[in-house]
Amino acid sequence: KLPAPFQVPLPIPPAKKPLRSDAKTDYYQVVQRKASVEILPGLKTGIIGYDGLLPGPTFDVHSGRTSVIEQVNQLDVPTVVHLHGGHTPAPSDGWPLDMIMPANGEHGGGHHMMGGGNMTMGKRTYTYPNAQRAATLWYHDHTMDYTAPRVYHGLFGLHIIRDAEEENLPLPKGDREIPLVIADRAFDEDGSFLYPLAKDGHGVEQKYMEGVIGDVTLVNGAPWPVHEVDAVRYRFRILNAANARRYELGFDKGPAKFVQIGSDGGLLDKPVEHTTLVIAPAERFDVIVDFSQYRPGDEVTVVNKLDGNANVLRFRIARKAADDTSIPATLSSYAVTPRPTGVVRREWRFRRGDAGDHRGWTINGKAFDPQVMQAQVKLDQYEIWTFVTDVHHPVHVHLAPFQVLSRGGKSKLSEYDHGWKDTVDIRPAEVVEVLVRFSAHRGKYLIHCHNLEHEDMAMMAGFETI
Ligand code: C2O
Ligand code: CU
Repeated sequence: KLPAPFQVPLPIPPAKKPLRSDAKTDYYQVVQRKASVEILPGLKTGIIGYDGLLPGPTFDVHSGRTSVIEQVNQLDVPTVVHLHGGHTPAPSDGWPLDMIMPANGEHGGGHHMMGGGNMTMGKRTYTYPNAQRAATLWYHDHTMDYTAPRVYHGLFGLHIIRDAEEENLPLPKGDREIPLVIADRAFDEDGSFLYPLAKDGHGVEQKYMEGVIGDVTLVNGAPWPVHEVDAVRYRFRILNAANARRYELGFDKGPAKFVQIGSDGGLLDKPVEHTTLVIAPAERFDVIVDFSQYRPGDEVTVVNKLDGNANVLRFRIARKAADDTSIPATLSSYAVTPRPTGVVRREWRFRRGDAGDHRGWTINGKAFDPQVMQAQVKLDQYEIWTFVTDVHHPVHVHLAPFQVLSRGGKSKLSEYDHGWKDTVDIRPAEVVEVLVRFSAHRGKYLIHCHNLEHEDMAMMAGFETI
């Protein structure tokens, strides 16, 4: 039996503190471990979490300061960490075979090369230069074939980068700047997560090929939480951390709206107003919501319109308060790059299909093979990539953000395509063109569907930057 909604207060994931810092770098340690946590009131749920938390702790860092993060694996399964949206050198990007083997395995320490992967025993140090503009990134597991169950059981968290351009804006901050990490889950009667892992451990049961969805909406790890707000402006960093579910977030009653100020890759040039937000897995929307037209005692509920106004979370307006924030008409120096001519073009076709003995999801007719690089991409050159789909696929590219150039053959974009994106929601039988340019880091990177079941069932391809 599920709990009544809007009983549990909205948790805020704790900020991760560095062990030490020097002039340019902050050093951290994270322990991946099992924990038993109360998600549904009165029941215990077994999770695997960064520091035993779901979501994991939030990294809050400044652009240009390096984060060196030692990840210790105290689980009994291999893991891989990827910083989603990070401009990360390849050895730290979380290649799916660069696994951290369980500390309690029977092997000794050190690095092992196996099957094209660089495995480490018990722990691994990831270096993130954070040499990129302010943005809401997130980190999550990326283990070959097992990303979906690992993330489902808790291996995800936020990594927020700040910079001076953004800090100088009169936006809400402090406890009026709130992350909303949304993810659905299904629970068994005893409170444990239900995940339909295939019997042989690879991927999911056939009937969940489309993706695993659940009937409980978690926000920051709490079911349909409630949060008290002042009647002022708030900034919400919204992440869809669901394995497979898309949301169209709206309010049950006016006049609240979302004023979008940022996208996956940071601030837009100017704000964009939305009555609802369509958000696919892994996308982020940075929005301002103004509660000043509500009165103390009023309640406003965020609902998912794609699911018949299903509950997500509720705000309870507690009191009137002073507000010295505003939304500037010009947010940042971000500018749309004009479509270049004469550049390399590549097509990536995301389809369900068979490839050899693989039955599942494919890119360009191929199942993910870590030995095969589907493209060699020169650094510092614009390319136009075309994504073609059969059903919904949220397409994600590692290393560099992109700008959406066209959707459905029209240069008119969807209202959600603005700014720097690293994940784009592609609808059935749609064609989306993006402009991308990689820089700084040479090595192996990934393009894949961020429906995590599709990803695990091989809808992923390697490319190499040269
Ligand atoms: Cu958010 Cu390759 O992943
Ligand atoms: Cu997909």
